[in-house]
Amino acid sequence: MSESFEFKLLATDGLARRGEISMPRGTIRTPAFMPVGTGGTVKAMYLDQVRDSGADIILGNVYHLMLRPGAERVARLGGLHEFARWPHPILTDSGGFQVMSLANLRKLDETGVTFRSHIDGSAHALTPERSIEIQGLLDSDIQMQLDECVRLPAERAEIERAMEMSLRWAERSAKAFGTQKGKAMFGIVQGGDVPDLRLRSAQRLAAMDLKGYAMGGLAVGEPQAVMLKTLDETLPALPTEKPRYLMGVGTPDDIVQSVARGIDMFDCVMPTRAGRHGLAFTRFGKVNLKNARHADDHRPLDEASDCSATRDYSRAYLNHLVRSDELLGAMLLTWNNLAYYQTLMAGMRAAISAGTFEAHVAEVREGWARGDL
Ligand code: GUN
Repeated sequence: MSESFEFKLLATDGLARRGEISMPRGTIRTPAFMPVGTGGTVKAMYLDQVRDSGADIILGNVYHLMLRPGAERVARLGGLHEFARWPHPILTDSGGFQVMSLANLRKLDETGVTFRSHIDGSAHALTPERSIEIQGLLDSDIQMQLDECVRLPAERAEIERAMEMSLRWAERSAKAFGTQKGKAMFGIVQGGDVPDLRLRSAQRLAAMDLKGYAMGGLAVGEPQAVMLKTLDETLPALPTEKPRYLMGVGTPDDIVQSVARGIDMFDCVMPTRAGRHGLAFTRFGKVNLKNARHADDHRPLDEASDCSATRDYSRAYLNHLVRSDELLGAMLLTWNNLAYYQTLMAGMRAAISAGTFEAHVAEVREGWARGDL
């Protein structure tokens, strides 16, 4: 823990980095996976379990929380940490990305974005300044600039317009955030799949000397190879001494490949959402618990795991729960998945420190390839 926001690089192995972000509410071991707690809850999980599975930080969303229960209300109730009973660091996403995927009647211009709630149709507006204000009301530890993410494929001109506007919004967000000891605001690199636009975005953000940098606009419909190539081309333009966050990514393989390229932080709904749909991530790849082949299988998902959901419940029981649409099925599989993601991160952190990252990744992949025997 630290009074101010600090990032320390502890070890590197190739381009992979092992580090630590220290801030007043706790220390984040990187590479880190941040479970998604959209509306102040990591769905189907007690936050104590999220913590016990190895999470140092969770993510919250401006979009959902401003609509329900409202940012001013959360502030009156003592802030998001107090409200949700998570005393550790929280990162909040700024809202633009969720407006574009969830809200109705969206209208976006230089000022910001206006939209109607997907919940009750009420009218709302977000500007870079209002997003930072909301993140302050939530008392978020790591706040994100408002940005515009363009879905791929898209025309260069459209990607460039959104990227340039996101740079202006980064300036406005940084000004609204000011200097806050112990908290950070990250900028978001945009530029789609166009190398010179990505580079311009990264260079201009780097010149703003922000506390950290995110890669946005990836995993939005492009093949994995395009995402990895974009990381290869863009990350060298970002300062090595600041954390790098790849937003909304991804599968275990996406994460391993991105850590290998120098990413420090991730968030994704994949482990939680997949868990609610009967899918388990394990050392031996993905297991679809809906499948009838598990109905008489008394083995757990992985008897060597530290996680009770993974070690103590038979596949037959999980299959029964999932097929019966029982809440406990979603709860156990979400728990298993978050525990697996955290184990994956811990394994990579240890391997980077030991200088054995490449061999470790080869071993992890062998497990996935071996499959669910
Ligand atoms: N989550 C996933 N991708 C993005 C992005 O490009 N911008 C923001 N703000 N959030 C994201």
